[in-house]
Amino acid sequence: MYLPRIAILISGKGSNMEAILKSCLTGELPAEVSFVGSDNINAKGLDTAATLGAQTRVFFYKRDGRKAAEEMIANAIEETETDWIVLAGFMKILSPEFVKRFHNRIINIHPSLLPSFPGAHGILDAWNAKADHTGVTVHIVDEEVDHGRILAQERVDILPEETLEMLEEKIHMVEHKIYKEALKKHFLENPISIEEWEEE
Ligand code: GAR
Repeated sequence: MYLPRIAILISGKGSNMEAILKSCLTGELPAEVSFVGSDNINAKGLDTAATLGAQTRVFFYKRDGRKAAEEMIANAIEETETDWIVLAGFMKILSPEFVKRFHNRIINIHPSLLPSFPGAHGILDAWNAKADHTGVTVHIVDEEVDHGRILAQERVDILPEETLEMLEEKIHMVEHKIYKEALKKHFLENPISIEEWEEE
């Protein structure tokens, strides 16, 4: 059986990447991680990925500029015959050109019920808005930020007695469960490989 090949892009802790990578290693998520990439050489998740045996790459946005950094990501995707780009806390906005080039092949997780609370601080924004619930969204990436066809969503209640830290913890737990489930379903429903992408 063909195992879809995924690249996971991170910027920091990489707890979502870790959950996905581990589920690929156990076979719970039938996919192979081609590499874990980051725009941040100090991302803690890079060490975690390497410890778990994944290939890691760094893309130097500051040094090389966005255009060149994206070109290097695209080269890495092609060179490693990667089918899907999985964003897991990757905090750089991908250019419309990059998104077009990998049309329908980029997936993201966001810690809110989109379209509510997009942006870099989804959890904090819901907290500050005193919302009684928020959630998690997994979606296909299109040219707009935190936007695109929704693959999965789960609501998370914000309880009056909860602290922001407790809410963050609860959301991350939901993320770690929902992302691998959504990817598994999506890959099963879209068993497309790089050769076919090239024919598009
Ligand atoms: C996650 O909560 C993810 O949903 C969020 O960054 C965090 C990364 O945590 N992404 C966004 O806000 C995207 N707009 P992690 O590095 O521990 O996976």
